[in-house]
Parts: sequence; C-alpha cells; structure tokens
Amino acid sequence: MPEADSSKAEKNFYTDVPQTSEAFFLKGSNSYDWGMKNRLSRIFNPTSGKTVMLAFDHGYFQGPTTGLERPDITILPLAPHADALMLTRGVLRSVIPPSLNKATVLRASGGPSILKELSNERIAMDMEDAVRLNACAVATQVFVGGEYETQSVINLTTLIDRGNRVGMPVLGVTAVGSEMVRDAKYIRLATRMCAELGAAFVKTYFVPDFETVTAACPVPIVIAGGKKLPEREALQMAFDAINRGAAGVDMGRNIFQSEAPVAMIRAVRSVVHENTRPERAYELFLDLKEHPTRDHHE
Ligand code: R5P
Repeated sequence: MPEADSSKAEKNFYTDVPQTSEAFFLKGSNSYDWGMKNRLSRIFNPTSGKTVMLAFDHGYFQGPTTGLERPDITILPLAPHADALMLTRGVLRSVIPPSLNKATVLRASGGPSILKELSNERIAMDMEDAVRLNACAVATQVFVGGEYETQSVINLTTLIDRGNRVGMPVLGVTAVGSEMVRDAKYIRLATRMCAELGAAFVKTYFVPDFETVTAACPVPIVIAGGKKLPEREALQMAFDAINRGAAGVDMGRNIFQSEAPVAMIRAVRSVVHENTRPERAYELFLDLKEHPTRDHHE
C-alpha cells in the first residue's frame, strides 16, 4: 500500500495551463518514437540543432590510419570536445572509458579491406550489441553506383528495420567510389536514397551547390571531412556546409591529422555551433595552438 497523501496543501492541477507539446527540433524527425528522438538529441545539440561528430572508424577497412595508430593517445584528448564519437565497437570497448559519457555512433558494416572491392560490405554487428553498448546510432556505408550497390542498400534497410524495433537511429554513409563523379547530382541521388529508405540522418561529402543536396534530403545531413586539408580550408568547408543546410560535421582526418588536433576540433565547434566565420575560426585555431589551455568560449 502506498502511504496516504497526507499533505495539507491544496492540490493544484493548473487546470488553466494546457500541457505543452513541442515539435522535435531535428529536420524530418518529428514522427519518431521517444527513444529514437532521445538518442538523436544526444548526437545533435538541441540548442544549436547541430553536431560535431569525431570520426575515427577508418581502421575497420584500412587498419592503423595515420593519426589513429594509438587512439588511446591521439583520440582520447579530443573526445571531450566532440558531441559524438563515430567508431567501431572494437575501439569503443578496448580504448574508450565507459565513464566518458559521450554519444557514440557505431560502425555496423564491414568485410572488405582496402586490398579488395570496398563495396562488398555486409552488416558486421548485431543490433543487440549496439543496444548493449548504449549506442546512439549505428552507421553503414551505401555504395550507390558501386559494384555491390544493392547489397549495400539492403545492409542499410536491414539495419533500419532492426533499429526501428529498438529505437536505434541509422546513419547512412554515402561512399563515393573513385570511378564516380563527386558532384551535386550524384550526392543528391545517394543522400536522397538513404533518406527515402529510412536512414535517420545521412553523412556525405561537401560539393558545390550543396544547398540543393540538403534541400532535397528530408533528414539531417552531416558532412565527412575527407582528405586532410590545410586547417583554414577545412574550416571554410565546414562553414560553407553549415550555411548551405548541413546539420553538422562528421570529421576525422582534418581533425586528428591536424598539427594541433584539440585546437582544430575547438575551432570546428565554433563554426558549427556558433556560425563563426572561417577567418575568425582560423584565428581561434592559431591562438589555441599556441595557448592550448586558453579558455575560449565555444
Ligand atoms: C570512412 O569510411 C569512415 O566512415 C570515416 O568515418 C569517414 O570517411 C569520415 O572521416 P574523414 O573526415 O576522415 O573523411
């Protein structure tokens, strides 16, 4: 038996105040269930609506990539500055302390190495393990126009069906084969396919006319960083992407291969969350590179 409510104060049911029911902040995501929205809210900042994801899952097909030889040494200092970590379950379990309390997006596909046909991927993780690891999303690559295009699309839809059962968002990653033309027409096709097939958000490359890519994609898009660029150019790319409708970045090499990775991720945060102009963000980078402990407001 619960204890009787013995309070003498008069109850107040605020009968004149309607219960609020706010729309979910993220593009195209209003109809999801609570768990899915809660996971997405840990990846995307509900105030800015944006995310800085730190991608370091490259080893799942290319081994110890430059800058990722020792993720315990190079990545852990960056992790507090990211909104979400994109990584494999192997590195999560072996390197990332469970107390870190960061959103994680787990790589859920794999198979071929750089020595083979990369589009020949399969699903490489159970949804049950993603739940066990408290992931906020799982990711798989889609090779539109690639040799194993259909297989990679079915990997995506299979993960989406499994994810929907447990409230796990799926990130569709558009892989662009070296034989493809990386232009807006191709990226519109690949990103729209991911969204139509049920991906909660999509990762792709920044291209000219990017505003047509984000306009044609009904769910959030985050950009991959791609090959290492000079820091000033990478900050410009992040700024251009955000101002053409991207909901954030999922950046790897342009952060962990930077000459000052912590300074770079902090400068990227400033661009993504505060729309800092690239020239100012670059000054911030240089300043933080010289004075790593400087307490800039981000
Ligand atoms: C590639 O398959 C991985 O998903 C990486 O996470 C992705 O390429 C992003 O990393 P980067 O910014 O280095 O391109």
